[in-house]
Amino acid sequence: MSIPQFTTQGVYVNVSKAVFPVAGMGTRFLPATKANPKEMLPIVDKPLIQYAVEEAIAAGITEMIFVTSSAKRAIEDHFDKNYELEAELEKKGKSELLELVRSVLPAGVSCAYVRQPEALGLGHAVLCAKPLIKDEPFAVILADDLIDGYGGSAMAQMVEMYTAHQCSLLGVEEVAAEDTDKYGIVKAVPMDERLSRVERIVEKPKPAEAPSTLAVVGRYILTPRIFELLETTGRGAGGEIQLTDAIAALLREEPVLGYRFSGRRYDCGSKLGYLEATVEFALKHPELSDEFRSYLKRNFC
Ligand code: G1P
Repeated sequence: MSIPQFTTQGVYVNVSKAVFPVAGMGTRFLPATKANPKEMLPIVDKPLIQYAVEEAIAAGITEMIFVTSSAKRAIEDHFDKNYELEAELEKKGKSELLELVRSVLPAGVSCAYVRQPEALGLGHAVLCAKPLIKDEPFAVILADDLIDGYGGSAMAQMVEMYTAHQCSLLGVEEVAAEDTDKYGIVKAVPMDERLSRVERIVEKPKPAEAPSTLAVVGRYILTPRIFELLETTGRGAGGEIQLTDAIAALLREEPVLGYRFSGRRYDCGSKLGYLEATVEFALKHPELSDEFRSYLKRNFC
């Protein structure tokens, strides 16, 4: 049971909502993403977005808010009931598959969709969710950072930290010095082995200008103050409205913590990261693991 938190109006609430910005074009995976959302690319047998939603559910989050664009209808369909498919599976007595299809969205979990009319950046995408969140802390999950959490999902670990510290939290990990220009990079003062207090954050700095090699990796818990700050955030790196810039303003007003979650992250926004995730998830898959391992040994060892 998590300890509730004061909102700006003094009401107690927990983290019950997660925002999934899924409006991006996915150009790095063209042509696979020409007609299919990148978030629907499968890792073995589940699309990336389902892993992200399962991570949120494991953290006790019950309201999923997808910030979408016109080409992303497949995501809505994936989390919706498919009557025809269910009727067909039922008729054929395929009860296990029927259960699998029905469990994509467990009872008690709801989905809402809001359009991001223009591709103005991650900060703008998060701002589009404001009418559905109002005055409460919320999670942001970027589905192309797939995290295999150890001892609980990465977001579950973060919600636990949020409960203890009651302030905004960023999921962070060390990256190679030459990769700082792919991430939001923080300068942070360690508080313990996993937690640090963020003092500065910069979006995609060149290695020579980066304040450290500690990168934000697609997991956030933010207080609602971020919305007001996003409303006045101008275009930043890449000409986009950056979440990082609004967080830089937030940390001048409120504590913001960095949290090194326990787990392995796969950058499924890159082809190599996507392949690594595919191989490693296949090696852990209950039905495939043995055969796939012997296939790899036979052919590559
Ligand atoms: C976004 C954020 C960046 C963060 C990264 C994590 O960048 O803007 O701060 O470090 O996600 O994956 P993107 O990868 O969307 O360019």
